[in-house]
Amino acid sequence: MQQTLILLKPDAIQRRLIGSITARFEQKGLQLIGLKFVKADRALAEKHYAVHKGKPFYESLLEFLTSGPTVAMVWQGREAVQVCRNLMGLTDGAKAPPGTIRGDFALSVQNNLIHGSDSAENASLEISLWFKPEELLNWNIVD
Ligand code: CMP
Repeated sequence: MQQTLILLKPDAIQRRLIGSITARFEQKGLQLIGLKFVKADRALAEKHYAVHKGKPFYESLLEFLTSGPTVAMVWQGREAVQVCRNLMGLTDGAKAPPGTIRGDFALSVQNNLIHGSDSAENASLEISLWFKPEELLNWNIVD
């Protein structure tokens, strides 16, 4: 069982896509164990995107992430990291295949609606940046 961090970025909130995007993770069968509406400050954005420091798009990316509220979520399930990345599609909305979240709703490479951890190791690091341990709630799925 894996956990992964998913962020709905400020463009997703501006475009009223919270429900449409979140539905895809629920429909897939993943379990939501953490959820918050949060406006990231510069310090959080810097930690979250530390790996991109020095890249030409870094400053613009930080401005974008801190420009408005985001929805931060933790999803749990079998191979959750890869499953979520498959649901999101390629980073560049113009290249993401139809049927994926970015393929269906995004055209930009920066304003691509959503972030998902790219490995189990990064997932646990990113989850700890956005959530306190007590904010993650485990609950039983009753079928
Ligand atoms: P994300 O999956 O959150 O990971 C890093 C983010 O940087 C990415 O989504 C995009 O929002 C952004 N990004 C990646 N590549 C570029 C690029 N070439 N130009 C602008 N932004 C980018």
